[in-house]
Amino acid sequence: MEVFITTTTLQTEKIGEDLGKTAKPGDVYALDGDLGAGKTVLTRGIARGMGLNEEDVCSPTFTIVNEYDELKDGTVSKVPLFHFDTYRLEGSDDFLDSGLDEYFVRGGVCVIEWSSVIDDLLPDNTVRIRITGSGDQRRIEVSR
Ligand SMILES: Nc1ncnc2c1ncn2[C@@H]1O[C@H](COP(=O)(O)OP(=O)(O)OP(=O)(O)O)[C@@H](O)[C@H]1O
Ligand SMILES: [Mg+2]
Repeated sequence: MEVFITTTTLQTEKIGEDLGKTAKPGDVYALDGDLGAGKTVLTRGIARGMGLNEEDVCSPTFTIVNEYDELKDGTVSKVPLFHFDTYRLEGSDDFLDSGLDEYFVRGGVCVIEWSSVIDDLLPDNTVRIRITGSGDQRRIEVSR
């Protein structure tokens, strides 16, 4: 497990950016941590690391999943980012009933906020990230 300590939003975004730079199609990043922990901030960084237009990245709480595939220069990326927020799901059955597991095999990078809701569905290659902290300090644990 790798551990990072950050004291600003930008530093957390940078951790995500480094992850995004090495992200490959089929990769899954499972994010957990309380409301306001910084899961969306980290995801914005991952998007930037993938070369995507990260300004658009916001919490997909009401839609469950957002897709991002626009590169900085306005062209379309071969590797999209699928950004999930499973906070509002009851559990894995909800996820499967909506066919959302198909995103795991669509050749993109999946980032899942509140991933513990669908823990039993996460693929073996999942990178698990837990964010804790308070004030402006965050502890980011990355297990792969
Ligand atoms: N070191 C830090 N890293 C990340 N965010 C920080 C840090 N310090 C303060 N913050 C603040 O914490 C908040 C993180 O918000 P963010 O939307 O990323 O949380 P979240 O985990 O996605 O929450 P939710 O579960 O509601 O989706 C932001 O308001 C951000 O400015
Ligand atoms: Mg969020």
